[in-house]
Amino acid sequence: MIRTCIEKIPPYIPGKPIEEVERELGLSGVTKMASNENPLGPSKEVRQAITNALDKVFYYPDANNYYLIKALAEGLGVNEDRIIVGSGLDDVNRILAETILNPTDEVVIPQPTFSMYQTVTLLMGAKPILVTGKGLGNDLQAIAAAVTKKTKLIFICNPNNPTGTIVKNEELRKFLKGLPRKILVVIDEAYFDFADDPDFPNGIDLLQEGFDNIIVFRTFSKIHGMAGLRLGYAVAEPQLIQNMLKVKDPFNVNLLAQAAGLAALKSKKHVLLSKELVQTGRRFFYKELDELGIDYLPTQANFILINWGRDSKEIYQFLLQHGIIVRPTHSFGLPDYFRVTFGTAEQNDRFFRVLREGIKKLKSDNR
Ligand SMILES: Cc1ncc(COP(=O)(O)O)c(C=O)c1O
Repeated sequence: MIRTCIEKIPPYIPGKPIEEVERELGLSGVTKMASNENPLGPSKEVRQAITNALDKVFYYPDANNYYLIKALAEGLGVNEDRIIVGSGLDDVNRILAETILNPTDEVVIPQPTFSMYQTVTLLMGAKPILVTGKGLGNDLQAIAAAVTKKTKLIFICNPNNPTGTIVKNEELRKFLKGLPRKILVVIDEAYFDFADDPDFPNGIDLLQEGFDNIIVFRTFSKIHGMAGLRLGYAVAEPQLIQNMLKVKDPFNVNLLAQAAGLAALKSKKHVLLSKELVQTGRRFFYKELDELGIDYLPTQANFILINWGRDSKEIYQFLLQHGIIVRPTHSFGLPDYFRVTFGTAEQNDRFFRVLREGIKKLKSDNR
């Protein structure tokens, strides 16, 4: 009964929800640092907008996302016909795959990266070409070398999940110039707002400069603290967007998410606070990990990939039992690493307190 391509899809492994851990381990006060969420939550403007919109939830939402797209277009300096919004980037990603992928197409996916690129490729019966390059970041040379006549789509996650690494402006431009124009490149900028490297490229600028075979992904889940509301969008050339609009569910973005999204775009102070929190968290993690002599990848995102040096299950379990959920990276093909989302100062302190205990305990166990 099941389509053959579905059988090949590996199940998505989400970060464990707080309630599940509390229920299973009989704990309270569990901290989740596993899914790259914003520990500040949404802004007060967003909270107010949701409250105000509650009275209208018996209506279907606006299928055209008129006000949200208008506000996004103004903020980004692009035409409205270049934008599509979805119920999170996961929705946008699937709409894109359903719009362009045929079973004969190849999709180049660098490794390690966000697993949903492979999922939507397999869903369409297309062929994922998984590329492991040099180091752990996106190796553009290796990606270019994997391109064949059948390549339809390439995914570049920038900053990359789970490594936090970036591809830089010049190398990305060179890479795009060298590609056949008929290949579409997704530049997934879910973590765009956290990057502060001066060489970090802005995908929207590239589109404006005429690189029209790219599609840029952004989300409200991270910087705006709205992961639970599900809101993301893509910017691309109008013809692609027009076709994607035919594929999307008419009411894919719910009414509360639309109202919240509009308010989030006006919440400038909250965006700044969220960025600052991540940058402070980053410095704190570097300092503490350096002190402990633990290896990590310098990051441009709101999370960090830590090299445990051997199977990270032991420290994952220890942290979990002490009320801290992090993300093991076995499913990314990195069994010796784990990923931690920066929290509030308090949560970061607690993480290192427990990590230190864990190191002591595991050392004495292994003796
Ligand atoms: C790189 C990347 N893209 C997309 C998503 C999905 O984002 P959304 O919450 O908008 O569906 C995530 C979520 O963690 C992500 O890490």
